[in-house]
Amino acid sequence: MYTYEELKHFVCACNRCSLCKTRNHPVMGKGNLHSSILFIAEAPGQTEDQNGIPFTGRSGQIFDQLLTEADMSREEIYLTNVVKCHPPRNRDPLPEEQEACIPYLKYETLLLRPKIIVCLGRIAAQRIIRPNFRITREHGTFVTRKNVSLTAVYHPSAILRDPTKFAETVRDFQAIKKKLQNTGPM
Ligand code: URA
Ligand code: SF4
Repeated sequence: MYTYEELKHFVCACNRCSLCKTRNHPVMGKGNLHSSILFIAEAPGQTEDQNGIPFTGRSGQIFDQLLTEADMSREEIYLTNVVKCHPPRNRDPLPEEQEACIPYLKYETLLLRPKIIVCLGRIAAQRIIRPNFRITREHGTFVTRKNVSLTAVYHPSAILRDPTKFAETVRDFQAIKKKLQNTGPM
């Protein structure tokens, strides 16, 4: 078993897929390593590629608002991405890039041992929950796998494109918070 710091070093030096040629900074997950809740988005954006920190651009502002609405904060959660390097022009990460990067996410999950996993957006939901997951129809629903509750919500960038999605995502976040409270202390 590697330590978290060792894992971070591997990610920072990684060249397992071709995104290593175009990225500026690999973006390791960030947050509370003792948290019971893990948020997984798809891949770093341009801002994150510049500063190496997940969700620090416009999507990050929406994400922070959603956390606040549900009385949560970055200090009490852990946040990461399926793919740790920025795909050029924000394209979806390719299946082979996801395949190359997924061991890091698996390792983060192993170290964290979360009780709840929240996928942010379709890409993460289809990778983590089910390949045919329909985000529009199924966001906010929970399934249980190996004693872990899994759910998905709209990606913050989808809310930026369509602000009418904000209110229902607030409701999803509030239901997630309730679930968290029912699973015991963080
Ligand atoms: N979008 C993502 O999916 N992840 C980030 O870290 C930032 C933007
Ligand atoms: Fe490595 Fe993942 Fe970056 Fe590809 S996306 S180079 S697998 S850290």
